[in-house]
Amino acid sequence: MTAPVLEVDDLRVQLRTPRGTAHVVNGLSYSVGPGETVAVVGESGSGKSVSVLALLGLLPQRVATVSGRALLQGEDLLSMPPERLRQVRGPGAGMVFQDPMTSLNPVLTVGRQIVEGLRAHADVNAAAARRRAAELLGEVGLPDPERALDRYPHELSGGMRQRVVIAIALSNSPALLIADEATTALDVTVQAQIIDLVERLQTDHGTGVIWITHDLGVVAGIADRVLVMYGGRCVEDGTVDDVLERPAHPYTRGLLGSLPDLAAPVGPGGEVPDLTTVPGLPPPPTDLPAGCVFWPRCPVRGDARCETEQPPLVQVGSGRSGHFGRELPHRAATWCSEEVR
Ligand SMILES: Nc1ncnc2c1ncn2[C@@H]1O[C@H](COP(=O)(O)OP(=O)(O)OP(=O)(O)O)[C@@H](O)[C@H]1O
Ligand code: SF4
Ligand SMILES: [Mg+2]
Repeated sequence: MTAPVLEVDDLRVQLRTPRGTAHVVNGLSYSVGPGETVAVVGESGSGKSVSVLALLGLLPQRVATVSGRALLQGEDLLSMPPERLRQVRGPGAGMVFQDPMTSLNPVLTVGRQIVEGLRAHADVNAAAARRRAAELLGEVGLPDPERALDRYPHELSGGMRQRVVIAIALSNSPALLIADEATTALDVTVQAQIIDLVERLQTDHGTGVIWITHDLGVVAGIADRVLVMYGGRCVEDGTVDDVLERPAHPYTRGLLGSLPDLAAPVGPGGEVPDLTTVPGLPPPPTDLPAGCVFWPRCPVRGDARCETEQPPLVQVGSGRSGHFGRELPHRAATWCSEEVR
């Protein structure tokens, strides 16, 4: 079996805030295989962005406490020295941030930023790097790439800036690509173009992808596996078919039912879950419930343990093999998962 590109084990992130300690990521474990796409979904504030920023050491050190293990091709990102982490970003792990302005330097032209990224990690002369930069901008669908190279980020539209960030993330053919709402602001044609490009990278270089999105249409189209986050925890994960067609956790069922674009998900016996919306709001990370994190909103809570104990992730249904013969179990954190077995 091929080794995973990324193995995250018991990742925890706490942030000091004026309202107290925010428990933003609470024991997240998952892995991404070569060429595999893991979609991370969940409501706003569930800890999706913080969980990946923590992997690359991009949270403000003053306020963030990160623990756990995150092996990128066998090397622990969470314990490596900052200097090594800087080397790893790029060829090891490329990231497309939710807000493109945070990753572009406003005082450098687009061309210079791409060329610097290329030359920092590969032995390539300036002219060849510039040619490759123009090629990359063309590949992400930027009109007139040669001209775009000499422009500053503020001279580009938001969608164009986002495509520049994507070009930079792809430029070193990383082993792992983290895309945080990377295509949300782009129109569907460009979005499809970017997805094709990423898929090509995965075929050619075995890049593993973490794709954070609110768009379940995109999840259904690109993901091999889905990880559903709630309150900083994984409440369900499995193959895209298992999670979207046989959601086991009441939260996932609510999430799917609340999205009008998707056909109503069905249970193993063909029954349509009766949860169509998720009423209420997620708990603030400074004040998480003591028991099951979904308890205050769960329409099927009833077990006495719901209020006091955190249910473990248990396997539901049968595991399947996926990429490279990897076993892909379908797991959910709930006492009530027996109902969907
Ligand atoms: N620098 C910070 N300081 C304090 N709290 C933060 C900080 N960054 C994020 N948080 C809090 O951490 C929690 C998780 O935030 P995160 O950005 O990871 O959510 P998300 O799942 O990515 O949401 P969205 O879908 O809106 O992008 C939120 O409650 C947020 O307010
Ligand atoms: S453990 Fe209880 S509160 Fe949590 S999802 Fe299951 S039934 Fe709902
Ligand atoms: Mg986010």
